[in-house]
Amino acid sequence: MKIALVVLTAMAASVCSETAVEEFAAGNLKFTAQLYKELLKENKGNFIVSPLSIEIILALTQAGARGGTAEEFTQSLSLPATRDRTEEALRTFLPTLKSSKDDLKLLSANKLFAGDRFRILDEFRRIANDVFEAGVDNVDFAKAQQAAKTINDWVEQHTNNKIKNLIDPDSLSDATRLVLVNALYFSAKWENQFEKYATRKEAFYTNALDSKQVDMMHIEDSFRYYECNEKNVKFLELPYLGGNISMTIVLPNDKEGLVKAEENIEELLKPHPLTHERVAVSLPKFLVESDIKLKPILQRLGLTKAFNLNEADLSGISQEGLYIDDVIQKAFINVTESGTEAAAATAVHIQAESLPPPPTGAFRADHPFLFFARLKDILFFAGKVENHEALISE
Ligand SMILES: *[C@@H]1O[C@H](CO)[C@@H](O)[C@H](O)[C@H]1NC(C)=O
Ligand SMILES: *[C@@H]1O[C@H](CO)[C@@H](O)[C@H](O)[C@H]1NC(C)=O
Repeated sequence: MKIALVVLTAMAASVCSETAVEEFAAGNLKFTAQLYKELLKENKGNFIVSPLSIEIILALTQAGARGGTAEEFTQSLSLPATRDRTEEALRTFLPTLKSSKDDLKLLSANKLFAGDRFRILDEFRRIANDVFEAGVDNVDFAKAQQAAKTINDWVEQHTNNKIKNLIDPDSLSDATRLVLVNALYFSAKWENQFEKYATRKEAFYTNALDSKQVDMMHIEDSFRYYECNEKNVKFLELPYLGGNISMTIVLPNDKEGLVKAEENIEELLKPHPLTHERVAVSLPKFLVESDIKLKPILQRLGLTKAFNLNEADLSGISQEGLYIDDVIQKAFINVTESGTEAAAATAVHIQAESLPPPPTGAFRADHPFLFFARLKDILFFAGKVENHEALISE
């Protein structure tokens, strides 16, 4: 008899160097685009997802997969060509997701929650530990409430309490053997902070006719910027303090242009020739929380054997017959004047003799847009703001 194995993820992030990482980064872009398209099909409106968090925890699961089951992970997640290659990439960049400075926190943590009497093979335990720094905690899945609480407490601790109740106790049973979890936490300040006093109530249009007043932030400064006539969108890169991490916002020129732009999502995520320009930026404060059931999405992307008790080969994890029962993710983003978490900002205004040149660009995000954050080449979250539910109006 085969037994349930639950895989989970909380939030996500990343980095890069040599070729294995480049291969991983290319796959990460492709996977992000596919994931975004699948989420569009579910018509979620606003959403936030961390492709990297999914890739990390499923790469760990793949380390225990064999044969056709292992190959499907490679294909459906666009991971590097071999498991060794994926491990090489992760060995290089996971250690860089350890920034815990006050101004910049980018932290990834993995953990295996294993049933009391479940025997994990030594080789899998070794890879989990060496490559993913995932230790093993024992829980009693028959006591579902308590087991869920143990896991959820760990997730809260590793996400600054932003992700709560990831595990529903009802999803655990005495058939559960192992729960693999990745938690990702990011908190950073903008390199160019928006002044609080410049935030005012302005309209955000969900379509050409319908609008609502929201808290619109403003800043005029030099940013990397690009107007792409061919795709009829503008790109704006907002850097975070502390290096190498930025958020890119892709804004269609037309108020109802996002649907068209999204048809070429993969093209939008690729690097574009942004150049420094003085831009007048209007961006609403936004807060998005998502709860994503990944199983049907991953199945549509071709990860099917692992979910099928008759076909799954996870014999690298344990000698018991195992399969994946579910994969879920919760994600959260809070974009404000100061960056992506609470902070105080003080402005000292010193009048200068020469006024800055007039802005050459205007970037007015008063209608639906998509956004993604990356550390160098690797996207660690992506999402979109489509309607007022995401927009803060105090
Ligand atoms: C940014 O990347 C450069 C080049 O790889 C590296 O030298 C630097 O330490 C990174 N900065 C931070 C803050 O991680
Ligand atoms: C979002 O950030 C703002 C300021 O950075 C903070 O005041 C607010 O409490 C945050 N919201 C949540 C739900 O964390």
